[in-house]
Amino acid sequence: MKWWTEARFGMFIHWGLYALPARHEWVKNREHITDADYRMYFDQFNPDLYNPKEWARAARAAGMKYFVITTKHHDGFCLFDSKFTDYKATATPYGRDLIAPLVKAMREEGLKVGFYYSLIDWHHPEYVVDRNHPQAGDAAYRETAKGRDMKKYAAYMRDQVREILTNYGSIDCLFFDFSFPGPDGKGRADWESEKLLAMIRELQPDILINDRLDLLDVPGGWDFRTPEQFMPKEWVTMNGRKVPWETCQTFSGSWGYHRDEGTWKSVRQLVAMLIEVVSKGGNLLLNVGPTARGVFDDRSMERLEGIGRWMKFHDRAITGCTQAPAEFLKPDNALLTYNPSTKRLYVHVLEWPLGTMTLEGLGGKVRYAQLLNDASEIAFKDASNPRDLGYLGFLPGDRKDDDGGAVLLRLPVVKPNAEVPVIEIVLK
Ligand code: GLC
Repeated sequence: MKWWTEARFGMFIHWGLYALPARHEWVKNREHITDADYRMYFDQFNPDLYNPKEWARAARAAGMKYFVITTKHHDGFCLFDSKFTDYKATATPYGRDLIAPLVKAMREEGLKVGFYYSLIDWHHPEYVVDRNHPQAGDAAYRETAKGRDMKKYAAYMRDQVREILTNYGSIDCLFFDFSFPGPDGKGRADWESEKLLAMIRELQPDILINDRLDLLDVPGGWDFRTPEQFMPKEWVTMNGRKVPWETCQTFSGSWGYHRDEGTWKSVRQLVAMLIEVVSKGGNLLLNVGPTARGVFDDRSMERLEGIGRWMKFHDRAITGCTQAPAEFLKPDNALLTYNPSTKRLYVHVLEWPLGTMTLEGLGGKVRYAQLLNDASEIAFKDASNPRDLGYLGFLPGDRKDDDGGAVLLRLPVVKPNAEVPVIEIVLK
């Protein structure tokens, strides 16, 4: 999992027919749209401005190291060319496979490749109607759908997963979505998850797989946990042990392109979110919902560019970093990340303080300190080493109460020009 834990930051892409209604990727379900009515989006699908090189450049410029695209979402529509269905991009007016050029463009920008594949399918004729189905409440529909055979659907999934794992070269991770066992639900027996998993591991032994196949208690049944739209309180654990985790988050309240949704997070919120995730040892998979023309809209671009402005100067406080060792205490209004290979500690200052900052637990351990945005020195007074006193304008008598375990940083009064300024501490 080395590449994945070092990468820390990825781009999720939710794209499909739901970009046309532009009011949430669950629109078919929420509005109980029938297959016949949903068909008009298929007939109109023609993303004429689709240029995956632009997407790849935007992801890379934002500092993202991998991406995950919806090869098929819950509505069953496939962005890839499949031998096992006509419900695919190649059969729309657009007429081309959308996945191949994206994979190529992303690889060219140095990003790792991830595929999202929906376990749920609201289009497939053998998919047994359940409580999450658009027609779940329609008794007459349920009656006509009575003879459906999930075994056939599970075989279809295996056929399609084999296609996406053989037609696009080596794939770095897979994101299945999602299980909901229980009454009128679906879980591992329906998906035949273990069979699916065995096939995947055989086709691509190095691939990383998320945790939504309903195999949490099966050894090797998942590689990382995926808390969704939610910031864990601390490093995610299973049976008391820290596990690899990735939280997926949206810019606003929808995964698919949503024209009228207004709860967009600010660049600052998103940067702070990324820092917080890494400070707890996790990955952030941040979602973009491209439009039906095939572009990232202005609101998305503004966020990606803003994050990129920050990442340009602060990438090394994120990439390769993880939670700081417990001995280093987090100062007020700040978050810590740590790179165990370079032994550098990063203090992400969320609220710029007045003149000084105390770092507890670092006495005697600091070799050098600097602002990361411009590599300008930060003078510090190390309480355990009184000879460092008086350096660069420290007044005699500063911090008489030192207990020996702290380091006092002398900061400029003016907040550095960065969404979240970072102090890089080079440890001895
Ligand atoms: C949920 C939603 C889905 C979205 C996913 C991302 O499971 O059903 O629309 O793709 O979250 O993790």
